[in-house]
Amino acid sequence: MATIEPSVPMPIAQLGQPVLRRKADLVPDELFNTPELLRLIDQMKVTLKSSGGVGLAAPQVFVTSRVFLAMTNPGDSDDAPLVEAFINPALTPLTEEKESSWEGCLSFLELNVLVPRFRAVRIDYSTPHGDKKSLELHDFAARVVQHENDHLDGILTIDRAASTLDIVKTSEIEAVLASRRKRTFKVVPKT
Ligand code: NI
Repeated sequence: MATIEPSVPMPIAQLGQPVLRRKADLVPDELFNTPELLRLIDQMKVTLKSSGGVGLAAPQVFVTSRVFLAMTNPGDSDDAPLVEAFINPALTPLTEEKESSWEGCLSFLELNVLVPRFRAVRIDYSTPHGDKKSLELHDFAARVVQHENDHLDGILTIDRAASTLDIVKTSEIEAVLASRRKRTFKVVPKT
């Protein structure tokens, strides 16, 4: 009897690895619904879970395919976080409005980066079984898929920062936020 090896967390490529800067390839039709693709998704899910992250793109586990996982309902009350696999995704902004928020990345946990993102996007994608789907996502979920989709094009949060001042060591983020609030407070009375 063939033994099925349990999935174990995969190594996550860290900042500086060329794989993070490559444009990933489309998943070809013949790969859908194969043990190879389903196994990759399973391994990525185990890796994401063990990392405690909210999204993971295939290039981060050294696979240059247009595949990522994203939690589309993190923080929702009683529901367990739903991790969905997005294959060959295409994003369309549903608003011109962007909002900036601090993002981490499993490929460089040491940094937090303030990144402007569209507040709402439509994502057209295929499931691992090859079904075509479309979702409209807002706020946090929209941000996560924009972050992960960037990974498929070799783009990282540090490339999206409006200023290098918006790249901060994770250990210092609270102090930086506090100092920015203080500065804002000092400036306001002068106006
Ligand atoms: Ni990332």
